[in-house]
Amino acid sequence: MPLISSHPTWYALQKRARALPALSEMFETDPARGDYLSVDLGDLFADFSRQRINRATFDDLLALAEATDVAGYLSDMAGGEIINDTEGRAVLHTACRGTPAKDPEIAKAVADADAMLETFVSGVHDGSIATASGGKFKSVVAIGIGGSELGPALALDALSDICPAKLDVRMCGNIDGVALERAFQGLDPATTLVVVISKSFTTLETATNAERAKTIMQSALGEAWPSHFAVVSANLKATGSFGVADERVFPMWDWVGGRYSVWSAVGLPVALAFGWGVFQAFRDGAKQMDTHALSAPLAENLPVLMGLITVWNTSFIGYAAEACVPYDTRLSLLVAHLQQLEMESNGKRVTRDGETISYNTQPVVFGGVGTNVQHAFFQQLHQGTVEAPVDFLISATPPAGDAEQNRALTANALAQADALAFGKSNTAEPHRHYPGNRPSSILIYDALSPAMLGKLIALYEHKTAVAGRIWGINPFDQWGVELGKVVSGDILPMLSGETEASTSLQNTLAALKRMGSQR
Ligand code: F6P
Repeated sequence: MPLISSHPTWYALQKRARALPALSEMFETDPARGDYLSVDLGDLFADFSRQRINRATFDDLLALAEATDVAGYLSDMAGGEIINDTEGRAVLHTACRGTPAKDPEIAKAVADADAMLETFVSGVHDGSIATASGGKFKSVVAIGIGGSELGPALALDALSDICPAKLDVRMCGNIDGVALERAFQGLDPATTLVVVISKSFTTLETATNAERAKTIMQSALGEAWPSHFAVVSANLKATGSFGVADERVFPMWDWVGGRYSVWSAVGLPVALAFGWGVFQAFRDGAKQMDTHALSAPLAENLPVLMGLITVWNTSFIGYAAEACVPYDTRLSLLVAHLQQLEMESNGKRVTRDGETISYNTQPVVFGGVGTNVQHAFFQQLHQGTVEAPVDFLISATPPAGDAEQNRALTANALAQADALAFGKSNTAEPHRHYPGNRPSSILIYDALSPAMLGKLIALYEHKTAVAGRIWGINPFDQWGVELGKVVSGDILPMLSGETEASTSLQNTLAALKRMGSQR
């Protein structure tokens, strides 16, 4: 397939980007622009009117979605076509939340895994799956990294104020030793369950932490340690060598990518923390987003519009970053999840056919919780030379606190969006001049719940697929992370002195050695 940049609609959009009126002018000439630049799903509302898009641009962007058959791509994905071509795999995280794929075997695999998971979760909760001494488990240390950590960690944190916890569930990712120490801090191994999550079961960080956890549990429980372990993996051979029996291994499949996997057995920590019903509600919310993404017309399709906006802002206007700012402390881990979701998916420079891409693809994703970040990086968003569009996420009902407090929170979010869009002129005092014309989207959800969290995560998943499709990228592989793993294997023996330091590392390794020996 030729690069999309050779399509006439791409040229038309490039031309429009060069002659864009300011946002204030767009509102003056078309005060009803919010009507077509918004989507209302009842419990989720998006206002895109502060994006630098007018009617003509909007129509051309929709034409771009048509030209790249975005709708067909989403339906191929959910149907189970092999769209992850570099790995020859289907992409069926949608099936884990009940959106049917064409092959009935997929639904059966999910149902079988769910039955196994539900039995395990309820057994741990009611005590029929007991500790080595016959008591109830009180806590869980879940070990995993990347997609095997970020999704569950987000859900655990986001739902912790809403759903009563049945167990104290902690996540551990880093290989630095501190993460594991913190995860076990104050826990009694005799009442702790360890869940190791690794699709490959070869990830260095997870393998190291799992071995350390095994040592901790072995010294507390002796030979009974395996009864305090469960594993989520696609690599039964490796989990067997680790020492966990197959009936304690919950499946992953090659058709679910790590960063899209929280809906599979990777969500086990969430189900253990809050119960199977909460996990189901979380997945149901995501399924509702699938239904919308797969059926709504392009012009009213929330993830399609969000994907198009990212493509417009990045490839045509030239923004190199995108901020996500939830005005809701409960969503503070959303940004970390989106960084992996979007940047590991679309941070690529060749098309599915291996052609080098000549336009900008995935922007850097950053962000944090409002209002906190207003006092951190918003200065730059308002007046800096390097700009970034923002997604403002706002809960319509107070996350907590009283109504007045929530009005102050909401006023802050909306004020930022307006200030960015319209600015304030001050020619006498340039340092107090706000140029405006800086784009943002406002997303309002009625209330955070397990279902709403699922819906929001699925929204960004589909947005990512849409943008990747338009750019011509395969969003479902991650070859870029492999080289670092190989190089780290070469450096390890240099650190221990087994091999000589390479030229580029000589000074650094000498400094490491000197400082390391001082303590
Ligand atoms: O960083 C690369 C990666 O493969 C991610 O895509 C994945 O989520 C993470 O490592 C963890 O992989 P695994 O679940 O196989 O341990």
